[in-house]
Amino acid sequence: MAGMGDSLTRQSEGEVMDSPAEAQAYARADFSQVNQLFVDRLLELAGNAPALAALDLGTGPADIPIRLARLRADWLITAIDASEAMLGLARQAVAAAALEGRICLLQRDAKKTSLPGGSFDVIFSNSILHHVANALELWREIRRLARPGALVFMRDLFRPPTAKRAADIVAAYASSETPLLQEEYYRSLLAAYTPEEIVQQLRQAKLPLEVKTVSDRHVDVFGRLA
Ligand SMILES: C[S@@+](CC[C@H](N)C(=O)[O-])C[C@H]1O[C@@H](n2cnc3c(N)ncnc32)[C@H](O)[C@@H]1O
Repeated sequence: MAGMGDSLTRQSEGEVMDSPAEAQAYARADFSQVNQLFVDRLLELAGNAPALAALDLGTGPADIPIRLARLRADWLITAIDASEAMLGLARQAVAAAALEGRICLLQRDAKKTSLPGGSFDVIFSNSILHHVANALELWREIRRLARPGALVFMRDLFRPPTAKRAADIVAAYASSETPLLQEEYYRSLLAAYTPEEIVQQLRQAKLPLEVKTVSDRHVDVFGRLA
């Protein structure tokens, strides 16, 4: 079987989660703990600067911007996703939280958003990188969208060294999820980039961001852009 050796070749996953079944399965899963940890780390990195314009790339069901908006009433959040199915779920969640005035949802490709350059103080994303086949395009778009001094914080899975290790991670962390979600998790691990590949992408994009492994399956990319 491909990938059972020492080093696992990246196996691309579909970029946009545009099937309604896939979007609903994702939205129904309980990511509350990991999403809150993401928000806590983002706020720790951001500090206390007021009234920031923030951008969430690949927002999915918008759980992260909702948590963020509740904690930072002064932030204006733009949240984009390329999937209409996901955005439908995000709109429902934002409306249920009565946050329509503070979270602006847009259907955009994160690699070419057409949003004005230099317009965001904070750019963040949880779990988009492994979806993107041409990561360099994504990093270049982030650089274009960032204001001077902007904070970038991206968190994603990293690709384990073997397919067996990927299967073990799914068994350890997703055994209570539906078969569809378990299958997606496994494919996401195989589609993820290694920390070394991310360092290489950042070098090519001329983005001076830090790459840090923060758990047995997650990698953070963060820093401020000059
Ligand atoms: C694994 S989900 C993560 C959702 C959300 N960030 C979270 O943590 O709950 C990845 C999301 O990124 C979106 N996505 C993937 N590629 C994209 C792209 N090029 N542009 C915009 N959205 C994209 C997918 O449609 C999906 O909603």
